[in-house]
Amino acid sequence: MQLVIFGAPGAGKGTQSKIISKKFNLLHLSTGDLLRAEVKANTELGKRAKVLLDQGKLVPDDIVGGMVEKALLENKDTNGYILDGYPRTLVQADFLNKIIKKDNLPKPKILYLTVDDKVIVDRLANRRQCSNCKSIVNLSELKQENVCPKCQSKNTLIRRDDDKEEVILNRMKIYRENTFPVLEALKKMNFEVNHVLGTNPIDTVTQNIVDIIKD
Ligand code: AP5
Repeated sequence: MQLVIFGAPGAGKGTQSKIISKKFNLLHLSTGDLLRAEVKANTELGKRAKVLLDQGKLVPDDIVGGMVEKALLENKDTNGYILDGYPRTLVQADFLNKIIKKDNLPKPKILYLTVDDKVIVDRLANRRQCSNCKSIVNLSELKQENVCPKCQSKNTLIRRDDDKEEVILNRMKIYRENTFPVLEALKKMNFEVNHVLGTNPIDTVTQNIVDIIKD
C-alpha cells in the first residue's frame, strides 16, 4: 500500500499517519520528522535546516528529494509507506513522479485532508508531542497538567519550535502559495486524489481514510 498524506500545517497528517501506519504496518515517512531528527543530531544538514524550520520556510527541494528517494528505495520490498509532508512544491511533485517511473515503483494514492485556517492556528498553538511515547496531543485532551494522556509520563510534553504564532502564519502562507497548487499538478500527472474532511473527530477521519484505501 502506497499513500501520500497531503494538507495544510495542522491538518492532522502526522496524527493520521501514525494511526494508519500502525494499523496497516506501513513505513511512516515524514520529511518534517526526518529534518527534525537531523536538527536534534546537530548534523551539518540539521544546522542548515534548523534556520529554515524555525522560520517556517521550506528546505531546498534537492535536499528533501534525496532523503525521500533514498527511503523509498530502501523500503521498496516492504509492505508499503505513508509519505507525510512530501511533495510540497511543484518541483517535488515532478521529482516524485520521475522516481516512481524511473524505479518502477507503484503510484501512491493521495489523501488530501481539508481544514479551515481558523482551526489550524488553534490546533498548532495547542499541539504538544510526548518525548516518551511520541504521541501528538492537543492541550485540550489533558486530564492532568503536564501529564501525557497516552502514556501518563510527566513533564514530557514538548512544544515544537515552529508552533509559535508568527511562524504558524508564515507556514500557512507558504502552504497556500507553494504547496496547495501541487494538488492540481498531481491530478494532471494522473495521481488519484481523495478528499478527506479533516475537521471531523480523529476516529472518523481514520475511518474515512480506511474506507478509501481499502477500495
Ligand atoms: P512538517 O513536520 O511536515 O509540518 P507541517 O506540514 O507544517 O504539518 P504539521 O506537522 O504542523 O501538522 P500535521 O498536519 O502533521 O498535524 P498534526 O497531526 O500534528 O514540516 C515542518 C517543516 O519541515 C516545514 O515547515 C519545512 O520547514 C520542513 N519541511 C518538511 N517537509 C518538507 C518538504 N517536503 N520540503 C521542504 N521543507 C520541508 O495535528 C496538529 C494538531 O491537531 C495536534 O495537536 C493534533 O492532536 C490535533 N488534531 C489532529 N487531527 C485532529 C482532529 N481530527 N480533530 C481535532 N484535533 C486534531
